[in-house]
Amino acid sequence: MVEIKNLSFGYNGKTILRNINLKISERERVVLLGVNGCGKSTLLKIMNGLIFAESGEFFFRGLLINSDYFKNPENRRSFRSSVVMLFQSPDVMLFNPTVYDEVAFGMRQMKKDEKEIKERVEELLNTFGLTKYRESPPFELSGGEKQKLALAAILAIRPNLVLLDEPMANLDPKSQGEVIDLLYELDITTVISTHNLSMAPELGERTILLSESHEILYDGEINSLLNNEELLIKANLVHRHRHRHKEIDHTHYHKH
Ligand SMILES: Nc1ncnc2c1ncn2[C@@H]1O[C@H](COP(=O)(O)OP(=O)(O)O)[C@@H](O)[C@H]1O
Ligand SMILES: [Mg+2]
Repeated sequence: MVEIKNLSFGYNGKTILRNINLKISERERVVLLGVNGCGKSTLLKIMNGLIFAESGEFFFRGLLINSDYFKNPENRRSFRSSVVMLFQSPDVMLFNPTVYDEVAFGMRQMKKDEKEIKERVEELLNTFGLTKYRESPPFELSGGEKQKLALAAILAIRPNLVLLDEPMANLDPKSQGEVIDLLYELDITTVISTHNLSMAPELGERTILLSESHEILYDGEINSLLNNEELLIKANLVHRHRHRHKEIDHTHYHKH
């Protein structure tokens, strides 16, 4: 579904992604793991066709996605109806007058009929526990509710590839569990970024680990990564403390 070949990207001459190679198959659940600043959001934006590689290639279902591809409005429409992204901050995504309109927006853009839209919006509001806010303006919602609303809005168009940028950050544990269950029930491909090692096993089966030098350090099953302390230290995901405690030196690891 996705293929990225020898991809590099930088801002103002500063490298943010270095020689990235990866393939993602339909229905895979990929966790993009790494500390702040390693390039997770940038890689997701490339997969969402918002920014383009400086060198290397990004293919979606065999099509090379670059600025030329988007010059054709039909191509843009087709890509945008298949690939969606939940941004790290939900506020930037919410701009409609009511919660209902927010979820309906994408389908209205796609010229679906209002009856179909109404059914889909009501189903999603119900699933996400937002029915009571149907007529409220999105800015009145709490951080976690906004996050759920933004997710409902992107799922409304039944996308195939869903890119989620640190979606758990604003959610309380109960809502995190609900969102994880919901994503698992959907017949979609997901790439979910997180800087939180302990969340990774819940978010997908495969983990791609980015280093602070913006390269892929690991790509595979989460369990083998969790047992590879050396790699986790290298990625700065765990660290070693040295306490001086009653004159006994003791070293431990903790995950955060
Ligand atoms: N629009 C931008 N202009 C300049 N630098 C940016 C921009 N967006 C991100 N960066 C820089 O790129 C690096 C990687 O950012 P990002 O992809 O957001 O990492 P992550 O999501 O893993 O925290 C950071 O050092 C960040 O400051
Ligand atoms: Mg980020």
